Amino acid sequence: MLRPLHMAHAFLEEILTDQDTAIDATMGNGHDTLFLAQRAGRVVAFDIQEPALEATQKRLSEAGLTNAELYLEGHEQVGQRVTQAKAAIFNLGYLPSADKTVITRPKTTLSAIEQICDLLEVGGRIAIMIYYGHEGGAVEKDAVLDFVKSLPQQAFTVAVYKTINQINNPPFLVMVEKQKG
Ligand SMILES: C[S@@+](CC[C@H](N)C(=O)[O-])C[C@H]1O[C@@H](n2cnc3c(N)ncnc32)[C@H](O)[C@@H]1O
Repeated sequence: MLRPLHMAHAFLEEILTDQDTAIDATMGNGHDTLFLAQRAGRVVAFDIQEPALEATQKRLSEAGLTNAELYLEGHEQVGQRVTQAKAAIFNLGYLPSADKTVITRPKTTLSAIEQICDLLEVGGRIAIMIYYGHEGGAVEKDAVLDFVKSLPQQAFTVAVYKTINQINNPPFLVMVEKQKG
């Protein structure tokens, strides 16, 4: 069985081509940026921590990829940088190797998701990995779930991929696909 993060990648890989723009809303160590840059024509990636940009730039350089733009900005600025995209990924929570108090927050997370829902192409997809074991994580989880549940079914299909017999708040995946503009 695929783990949620692998399912997130499979979900995006299915629709991404080298003609597309993809967004990494939470760059971190750059694993998702690299994944997207290997498949999309253009990647736009965000993080608010300088070490995240450095780690991601290093990862991309080692792979010889030059098609990603890395911004030291919150993902709530996404609408200023991108007008259209085919795919986006969020990995919410904190970066394990860095300051664990720097976490994604409901207000900015929802702002970014809302903007991406607007600028997403029809047939485009958003993968949202939800980690919620840390302080503040449960509030963000509920805020994201409330928002995606409220998306109109004529325009978006929303699904959750989640194990249901594991302890310790295992991360899970929210999948959003745009059906109509
Ligand atoms: C779970 S980590 C991401 C892991 C990453 N996808 C990887 O492959 O390593 C969450 C990241 O979100 C970042 N973050 C927190 N608030 C943010 C915001 N408003 N905009 C963009 N990134 C943010 C944190 O700095 C952290 O690096």
